[in-house]
Amino acid sequence: MCGIVAYVGKKEAFPILMKGLRRLEYRGYDSAGVALLNGELRVHKCKGRVDDLALFTNGKNVSGAIGMGHTRWATHGPPNDVNAHPHTSGDGRLCIIHNGIIENYSSLKEELSKRGHQFVSDTDTEVFIHLIEDIQKSEKVVLEEAVRLAMQSVVGAYAIVVASQDEPDKLVAARMSSPLVVGVGIDEFFLASDATPIVEHTRNVVYLNDEEIVVLERGKDLVIRNIQNQEKAPYIEELEIQLEKLEKAGYDHFMLKEIHEQPTSIQDSLRGRLDAGKGIIALGGIRDFEQALVNAKRIIIVACGTSWHAGLVGEYLFEEIARVPVEVEYASEFRYRNPIINEDDIIIAISQSGETADTLAAIRLAKQKGATIFGICNVVGSSISRETHAGAYTHAGPEIGVASTKAFTAQLTVLSLMAITLGRKNGKLPESRFRLLLSELELIPEKVKRALECEEQTKELAEIFQFATNFLYMARGYNFPVALEGALKLKEISYIHAEGYPAAEMKHGPIALIDRQMPVVVVATNESAYEKIVSNVQEVKARGGRLIVITTRDDEDLRELADYVIQIPRTEEPFSPMLSVIPLQLLAYHIANLRGADVDKPRNLAKSVTVE
Ligand code: AGP
Repeated sequence: MCGIVAYVGKKEAFPILMKGLRRLEYRGYDSAGVALLNGELRVHKCKGRVDDLALFTNGKNVSGAIGMGHTRWATHGPPNDVNAHPHTSGDGRLCIIHNGIIENYSSLKEELSKRGHQFVSDTDTEVFIHLIEDIQKSEKVVLEEAVRLAMQSVVGAYAIVVASQDEPDKLVAARMSSPLVVGVGIDEFFLASDATPIVEHTRNVVYLNDEEIVVLERGKDLVIRNIQNQEKAPYIEELEIQLEKLEKAGYDHFMLKEIHEQPTSIQDSLRGRLDAGKGIIALGGIRDFEQALVNAKRIIIVACGTSWHAGLVGEYLFEEIARVPVEVEYASEFRYRNPIINEDDIIIAISQSGETADTLAAIRLAKQKGATIFGICNVVGSSISRETHAGAYTHAGPEIGVASTKAFTAQLTVLSLMAITLGRKNGKLPESRFRLLLSELELIPEKVKRALECEEQTKELAEIFQFATNFLYMARGYNFPVALEGALKLKEISYIHAEGYPAAEMKHGPIALIDRQMPVVVVATNESAYEKIVSNVQEVKARGGRLIVITTRDDEDLRELADYVIQIPRTEEPFSPMLSVIPLQLLAYHIANLRGADVDKPRNLAKSVTVE
């Protein structure tokens, strides 16, 4: 996903922009660039990392107190110097940076070409700035008005920042389905795709809404208008993200830091929502729609990736605790298969970033069909969170590592709270079990802390299995999604192929894969199916598989069978995924680290997939 950062103020913009781009690197990108306005408009951009851009700008004029920076994740046109942002207008006097996709760029490009415009890149972004140029020249209007008029012709999702050499004291930015945050400092403004580049400068932010255009002019207050040209009063919020949270806090990678943050992030996701002593659960964000949740004949969970795995755990939670039918859908499939959606359906969108294009499109479709939409997001003010009727934020804090870890367990925390709330409201959850689950949920942060103590064992296992080429993960019941998640963690950061399976499914094919070269990870923490999972372990053992077993029991029989055993604390079955995933996260991390992989920014991956 592309990253945007911009500055209007009295300081030199360049160092602010470069540091801001580094804060945004986690989003995944393949080229970077900056534009500085200082009498002249100067653009510097190149393929590669932000460090490459720093080298590229050595010796060049990067002065100016107004500027913009961009990291590009290629969607239209390959990663190269020409396709990098910023892009300039035909006369070179305007420039733009953009996050998103212009869907009708081909027809716009054709029209503009007929009017004499010439293009140098393959990008949709360049078409946008030529359109703004064309409008400004024909309508003879100021930059923000040209942007507003251009937005009426453009179809797509975008966040843009535009500058003009002829209006050298301002930047104009606009948002349409792609996030943009304004930082309001003292006599200075910041703009970014999310708050991470802003927080060290100011905690006062304005989240732009769709169809809004903001003018940031030196020495003036910020002005927000919508596409209908109506002025909107800026709503300034105070950021809660602390800068130190953005640092690695002494860990080698953000991912390891975030794995170890899970006792805190789960605690934060429970904070103010659970009081076991008083038998209280309070999810303020769904209170106004609790009756809709109780009346729901069906819950449909839409998500992608790790969030989809959280949704699968949610299916077990809602069906066992609240006895409500649940369907879990890949958002990318759901949005295109003309799904049956009833007005009494509840759709729950799960998304760490709150910007995943497929998930956003899925809820928009469901909304059009009259369903009530709940959201479980980790980023306040994110697009998905703003388009739902109700929801509950995970308070996992910024998750910088591309591989999701603390967001996953925070999602499970919120899903647990929702399922217990529903079970309580619809009478399916008996008082005794309600109180038991509340008490146990309160203990989870401490139990996760104890589960993290297995890290040394996972380091030893990483040494043994770092050269494996395939892994199998097996589990049953609530932990079946954990097998999928463990496999995803390994493959996305170590590039080792891995598959997760329901343990009983092994004999329907995958067992043919098992031999001495195939490490098999078995999550055997289910009380209800313990004997069955042990027999699955025996099946693997009999075929020479190398067994890593995650268990809650000090079980001699299991120790006899397994090559390696990791013991984690016991908990109520609905909450076991929050514990059993911990050793799998650590195992994946340490294998990837030993293999020298770029753990926080794995190849080909972006932290948030905001394009299809
Ligand atoms: C998880 O480790 C991956 N990085 C990826 O599958 C991610 O979960 C998926 O892209 C969904 O992202 P979201 O939660 O921000 O919507």
